[in-house]
Amino acid sequence: MRLAGKTALITGAARGIGLEFARAYIAEGATVTLADVNAAAAEAAAAKLGPQAHAVQMDVTDQASIEAGFATAIARMGKLNILVNNAALFTAQPIADITRTDYDRIFSVNVAGTLFCMQAAARHMIDRGEGGKIINMASQAGRRGESLVAVYCASKAAVISLTQSAGLNLIAHGINVNAIAPGVVDGEHWDHVDSLFARFEGKPPGQKKREVGATVPFGRMGTAQDLTGMAIFLATPEADYIVAQCFGVDGGNWMA
Ligand SMILES: NC(=O)c1ccc[n+]([C@@H]2O[C@H](COP(=O)([O-])OP(=O)(O)OC[C@H]3O[C@@H](n4cnc5c(N)ncnc54)[C@H](O)[C@@H]3O)[C@@H](O)[C@H]2O)c1
Repeated sequence: MRLAGKTALITGAARGIGLEFARAYIAEGATVTLADVNAAAAEAAAAKLGPQAHAVQMDVTDQASIEAGFATAIARMGKLNILVNNAALFTAQPIADITRTDYDRIFSVNVAGTLFCMQAAARHMIDRGEGGKIINMASQAGRRGESLVAVYCASKAAVISLTQSAGLNLIAHGINVNAIAPGVVDGEHWDHVDSLFARFEGKPPGQKKREVGATVPFGRMGTAQDLTGMAIFLATPEADYIVAQCFGVDGGNWMA
């Protein structure tokens, strides 16, 4: 029960990694708000997790929605100790095909969403004066370029950079900001990635997943459960002296 009495808001928690983090935090004693643009899915997920889970509709691209979502979550839970910025979109295409619309869509969720949710949490945490923990979901994609993934890679590089600046700025208030960089994590997100590579690289469905899994030094793709240990640790006082860092949890896929 390393998070007993703590409260957390996790964006993009209706499915995938965010949902698994919600389950793991609740198992450690926390109360968690699952914030997602897909309100019905967030509510269904929260109902399955039980009384320590709440759902709130939040579109991280919309400032009014962020402010309303944080206000609702804080009113219900009484306070906010932990924010996980997990909501993100993925896209893939050759440089020649990228459109302004694609770029704006991805950066609006992955970068602006992360920044302004950090801001909303930080304002509350500074007012309360008891510090807090902010965990941003980066990616190995933020540490390198990838031929077909320019926009997503750049967005995750920006998440790592925001983590560094916010980490330095907010530690004065006892707020630790750190990031997790997963490698390749199986789930609905990667089903979508696989379908995009099938289109651009002419591979049969499932082929890209098999290829990336085979190249992970650990021997397989990751699961959302592989990431929960780091997500819990970074939310505990054991991580108080860790500031503005990004941790690879990727089966040895990438040397940072
Ligand atoms: N799955 C992987 O292989 C992998 C690898 C590296 C990093 N990551 C990162 O981990 C995080 C979670 O990934 P996942 O695989 O669970 O993704 P996912 O696509 O399964 O889930 C993303 C969630 O975000 C929500 N969302 C999308 N737009 C939103 C918005 N505007 N406002 C609020 N919510 C919104 C979606 O509804 C969905 O529930 C992401 O930041 C992703 O970039 C994933």
